[in-house]
Amino acid sequence: MDWLRRHWHRVLAHAAGLVPIAILAFDYAGGRLGAIPERAAMLRTGALSLALLIAAFACTPVASFSGWRGAVQIRRALGLYGFAYAGLHILIYAFYDGQLDLEFILRDLSERPAMSVGMAAFALLIPLALTSTSGWQRRLGKRWRTLHTLIYVAMPLSALHFLWLDRDILDAPIAVAVVIGLLLLARWPPLRRAVARLRRDFAR
Ligand code: HEM
Repeated sequence: MDWLRRHWHRVLAHAAGLVPIAILAFDYAGGRLGAIPERAAMLRTGALSLALLIAAFACTPVASFSGWRGAVQIRRALGLYGFAYAGLHILIYAFYDGQLDLEFILRDLSERPAMSVGMAAFALLIPLALTSTSGWQRRLGKRWRTLHTLIYVAMPLSALHFLWLDRDILDAPIAVAVVIGLLLLARWPPLRRAVARLRRDFAR
């Protein structure tokens, strides 16, 4: 019980990554994904990927604004699950939309900006996922932090991918873009210093 009290946030992070894929597989097997299950699975994995990437991106500001270090401890898991769902999303796209026809996929990437920015976002996430272990963090030293600033480009590109899809209702993509914008703003050094000062004043 004591273990759970200390590690509940890790359990929650792994549940956030693993439960949705179990539900997706369950729905797929039970024929509950509607008339075009492949499309439903592609949309669901895209949405899950973005949600988990945003959750991972929120960890640093949550930790620095609240002082709760647990947020930093679950950042990597959330990011890796987000990356895995993006990989699955692209795989389903390649099989279902692209019919594994490389020529068609490359043409689609060059003709639809939403697809090319999505691919750029995914490409930027690859080195982050590969170097996410503490071994790589140690090996790269200061360069690890520099490399991981790629997330500041990958997140806006993911928002742009969502905004650029051919949709009539843009409420969700706009909300996502605003959240990502605020999370970027939260990293602005003057704002972080002001919040740190406020926290110190309150602690006295
Ligand atoms: C980090 C990378 C990516 C993220 C976070 C992401 C996220 C998303 C999200 C949130 C949606 C909308 C889901 C919904 O409406 O419920 C979506 C749709 C879609 N994504 Fe991605 N995506 C990424 C990369 C890609 C890539 C590389 C491709 C293909 C080259 C792609 C192809 C699509 C397609 C075809 C749709 C559906 C478009 C439609 O409505 O017809 N995505 N994606």
